[in-house]
Amino acid sequence: MSSQRDAVRSNRILWDQLTQINQQETDESYLELQAGGLCLRNLERGVLGDVSGLFILHQMCGTGAQTLSLAKLGAEMTGIDFSEPSIRCARDRSQQHGIPATFFCGEVVEDIVGFSNGFDWVVAMYGVLRWIPDLTAWACATRRALKPGGRLLLIDRHPMVNLLTGNPTGPIVAGDYYHASQGTEWELDLPQDGLHSIEWAHSIADLMMATTGAGLVWSRFEELPMSHEPSIQGLILESDGWWRTPPEWPRFPLLFLLEAKAV
Ligand SMILES: C[S@@+](CC[C@H](N)C(=O)[O-])C[C@H]1O[C@@H](n2cnc3c(N)ncnc32)[C@H](O)[C@@H]1O
Repeated sequence: MSSQRDAVRSNRILWDQLTQINQQETDESYLELQAGGLCLRNLERGVLGDVSGLFILHQMCGTGAQTLSLAKLGAEMTGIDFSEPSIRCARDRSQQHGIPATFFCGEVVEDIVGFSNGFDWVVAMYGVLRWIPDLTAWACATRRALKPGGRLLLIDRHPMVNLLTGNPTGPIVAGDYYHASQGTEWELDLPQDGLHSIEWAHSIADLMMATTGAGLVWSRFEELPMSHEPSIQGLILESDGWWRTPPEWPRFPLLFLLEAKAV
């Protein structure tokens, strides 16, 4: 699997660059926190409920805006991300705002092996699975990090979106639904030239088999018609902050939400 390791390493270099670019432009996700608010949507808040005193592992925490928001609500937060500039920025923000949280620089599968049975929740949101080549390994590492009875909250891009591309008259099928172990290389649509990512598609069946096989029992699964980002060209940003398909398009899910319990 060294080619997958190489791909993850190359994504890490990409994310180091993206963090630096985002910080120069003032990371949008941080503005709410900076203004004294929370960088959380009602969707995840509704599932998590009262987090006060709970131990939460936030996977792929980026620059920590959501991690620090949950810490502000009283959770004992640990954020993990493989991008060093992101983690440095998250630690600075934690100090600057006086919100305690632990930030750990590491790969979300290989480096959480030591996190055993400690967390009430593992939370992973808005841009997760496509960076993970091996879903079974991720699900096992996630299960190990949870206390018995602890829960996973995963909110992510629906795999339907991998299949489709935007078009003025509606989406067209342009990608693969099924997983390919080598991943797919994408040129990023950014003003900076030459930035490439390697991303992996995972079907809902892959997710179900990996998580249930690891001992995570699904208690809630939703396929949602909105997105936190314009994941397909042509989506419309509505006043509640969610992107949705135009009314004349066929209806299909843009996000999914999974809550699963460690047994
Ligand atoms: C789309 S961002 C999501 C950040 C955060 N959830 C948010 O909404 O702001 C994806 C994050 O995952 C991190 N990442 C990607 N692949 C990773 C991996 N294999 N291990 C750890 N972190 C990873 C990146 O550095 C980046 O910060």
